[in-house]
Order: sequence, then C-alpha cells, then structure tokens
Amino acid sequence: MTLRIRPARPEDYPCFARWFPMLESGDRVPSREEWTRAFVPETSIALLGEEPAGYCRAQVFGTDGYVRHLVVEPSARRGGVGRALLDRVQASMRAAGCERWRINVKPDNTAAVRLYTSLGMTVQHECASVRFEWVLLDALPSPSEALSSFEPDGEQRRALESTYSLPMGQLSTADERDDVHVRAVRGQELEGVALFYADFPGAFPFRADSVDAAMSLLHGIRPLATQPSMGLVVENDMALENVMVDAGARVPFRFVHMRGRL
Ligand SMILES: CC(C)(COP(=O)(O)OP(=O)(O)OC[C@H]1O[C@@H](n2cnc3c(N)ncnc32)[C@H](O)[C@@H]1OP(=O)(O)O)[C@@H](O)C(=O)NCCC(=O)NCCS
Repeated sequence: MTLRIRPARPEDYPCFARWFPMLESGDRVPSREEWTRAFVPETSIALLGEEPAGYCRAQVFGTDGYVRHLVVEPSARRGGVGRALLDRVQASMRAAGCERWRINVKPDNTAAVRLYTSLGMTVQHECASVRFEWVLLDALPSPSEALSSFEPDGEQRRALESTYSLPMGQLSTADERDDVHVRAVRGQELEGVALFYADFPGAFPFRADSVDAAMSLLHGIRPLATQPSMGLVVENDMALENVMVDAGARVPFRFVHMRGRL
C-alpha cells in the first residue's frame, strides 16, 4: 500500500484524539480547538492508501528541532511508517536551518528508543514528570529572601536559553498566548527559568540551579495558576525530585531526553 505524508488538517482531530493517549503521558487529550490552533500547523499525518496511519508533531526553534509526538496506528506498526514520518520531519527541519534535533522518550519504550538511536540520537539526561497540588508548596522549604522571581526581558531570555541549552527562541516566542508565562529567578545572577502553561497546567522546561531557586520559581508561578494541580518536568535534578517526592509529589513516569545532529 502506498505510504504518503501530508500536513495535518483540522478534520484529522478524531484520529489525533485516538492516537494521543498512546503516548501514555497521562496528559488530557487536547481539545479540538487546541488541536486546530496549536497542533495542526506543526503536525504531519501519514496515510497508508487513504487510511490515516500515524502522526508526528515537531517544532522548529532557530537551529533546534524538537519532535514532540510520534504515534503510529497499532495495526500499521513495524511497516516503516514511524521512520518515514521522522524522515519527513528531519528534511523539513534541515530545510528550516536546524542543525540538531531532540526528543523525549521513556527509556523502556524499546521501539521508539531503537528508532531514535538508529537516526543518530543519544541520551543526554534523565527527566521525571512530577505532579502535585499547589497546596504542597506550603509544605516545601520557603525560598531564601536573596532570591526573587520575575518576568525576564528579551536579552535575559536569550541568556537563559543559552545557559540551560534550551532551543534558541523557545522562551522568546513562548508567551504570545495569554495562558503561557515565562518566569526566571535571580539572586546574584540568573539562577533558573520556567515556561509555565497555566491551562495545561504545567511547567516545561523548568530549570533551577538549586532547590532554593526552584522554590523561588514555584512561588513566582503560583499566582499565575488557574488550576489546583500542577506538573513539572524535573530534568537531571535528583535533589529537587527528592524534595518534591518527600513532600508528597507523585512521579507518574520518567523519561530520557535524546538529542542528535541533523
Ligand atoms: C515508536 C513507534 C512510533 C514506531 O513506529 P513504527 O512505524 O512501528 O516504526 P518503524 O516500522 O518505522 O520502525 C523503525 C525502527 O524502529 C525500531 N522498532 C520499531 N518497532 C520496534 C519494536 N517493536 N521492537 C524493536 N524495535 C522496533 C526498529 O529499529 C525499526 O527499524 P527496523 O524496522 O529497520 O528494525 C510506534 O511503535 C508507536 O507508535 N508506539 C506508541 C507511541 C509511542 O511510544 N511513541 C513514541 C513516543 S516518544
């Protein structure tokens, strides 16, 4: 059967809504409105004959490409659909000037890890998805008064992207939406940054040089929260993860961050 890849369309929503839970991220399925507004422009759909067979959502930030989702219809797996979607995404990223690409994956997802490894990606660090209710913050250590949380300007955002190896432009372009906020923490210098999606709700990336800086960031984000619960991606930071878990936060799953050259 012929394999084709085309840009996503709003009417692909029912397929997306069925495929999205196969990522097993624990996240709610984005609404039709969110799909149309935020996902369709970044998504490719694979077709086997006329049948939708999978999707890949990927973003471009300057010279960095970020694969966000990849799902193949179960009945179509092991037929080259996943590789074909990534080949297409790779070509689009290169054409857009990307030099590297990245993806997150659960380490026990053998199929996905093998696929990404075969495309030259390697594991950079471990991450934990940490979930909690905002009231947990009252049980966590208070941040020291030497730290303050604030909204960084353009120059500070570029500095933070460089310091924390974030895709260039990720922070600069993030808060064009009302429900997305960038907050940084500073003491003597910049000591952390978070990109907070209030409606999601969650912060990713969330980077802090110390547990103290992480607490300051969380206190800075809390007034922006619209929901009682919260999710953080804690990257390569066992100290913060342990403090959160000891206070009662949950870690529904762990994953690894992989990167490769394009
Ligand atoms: C991961 C996934 C997208 C792969 O899609 P696919 O169309 O089956 O993959 P392909 O047929 O293109 O296979 C490409 C390579 O992946 C690896 N692979 C795929 N399935 C595999 C499996 N079951 N076991 C081991 N390796 C596997 C192999 O290296 C394969 O290359 P090969 O065929 O030359 O051996 C698919 O399994 C899927 O949708 N899984 C559920 C959602 C998910 O986990 N997405 C990834 C989130 S990070």
